[in-house]
Amino acid sequence: MALLEWRDEFATGIPSIDYEHRNLIGLINDLHTRAMRDPDKGPVEDTLGDIHANISAHFALEEKVMRDLDYPQYDSHKAEHEALLDDIRAIMDKVHADREFDYRTSLADCLRDWFGDHFKGADSRLHRQTGH
Ligand SMILES: [Fe+2]
Ligand SMILES: [Fe+2]
Repeated sequence: MALLEWRDEFATGIPSIDYEHRNLIGLINDLHTRAMRDPDKGPVEDTLGDIHANISAHFALEEKVMRDLDYPQYDSHKAEHEALLDDIRAIMDKVHADREFDYRTSLADCLRDWFGDHFKGADSRLHRQTGH
């Protein structure tokens, strides 16, 4: 089963951004499926690392767009990005400390809540203004 399902409430209403966000969710699910196929716990840590890296790359791009535009809500938007990366990092630490820790529920809950709020809020405000 997919770790994270796309929901209509995730949509910002800007097709190019929704496409990118959907791709991010697809990528998270692919990485997760690959990790689940392998009985060894090692790939789980790699998967979390890859998810963190991919989300981080998406954020870096958005933050560049904001800096280039002198976007007034840069600080608060960036703070939301950092909070999610910290949450993922905390899950990675738990997996590392306890090999039996089942990261799936925590990660799916954290991503689902966060994607719903952030896409609808900060991202949609930014992209509506910039068209990016
Ligand atoms: Fe985004
Ligand atoms: Fe964002």
